[in-house]
Amino acid sequence: MTSRPRSIRCSLGAAAVAACAALPPPGASAADAANGRRAYLAAGCYACHGRAGQGGAYNYAAPPLAQTQLSPERFKAVVRTGPNEMPAFVQAVLSDSDLDDVYAFARALPGARPLKDVPLLDAEAPN
Ligand code: HEC
Repeated sequence: MTSRPRSIRCSLGAAAVAACAALPPPGASAADAANGRRAYLAAGCYACHGRAGQGGAYNYAAPPLAQTQLSPERFKAVVRTGPNEMPAFVQAVLSDSDLDDVYAFARALPGARPLKDVPLLDAEAPN
């Protein structure tokens, strides 16, 4: 459980309107990539997808999650259904709010660097 507030009720009034403008739209949550990292490690996503979301191998390739291009809805649907070799993660294991945060964490991961940015690998990269 996290201690940060998930929703703040806005009442009418000029000051409240200004304060509410800074809040996420209704239904959206302020996703927290740091908590997402915690949940990603706690749920065991890293075992197949790698600690940096770089992807890995289980019975066959587990795709990279860093910089995922999936929509939040699609990402969450995959986690809830567990296609093929991926296990499904139910609410009791990974809450909706933690899953939102895992998505934010995946989006925030830098992903693979180009070979030319890694001196040791650049030396061995084909020209
Ligand atoms: C036991 C290994 C394993 C674990 C643990 C696991 N996954 Fe997966 N995941 C896979 C495999 C394999 C696939 C590819 C499934 C397929 O064939 O479509 C996949 C696919 C995905 C995809 C779709 C990626 C894409 O670009 O299509 C997402 C998103 C995903 N996993 C998120 C997660 C998250 C988040 C967790 C932790 C809550 C997690 N996975 C835990 C093995 C795993």
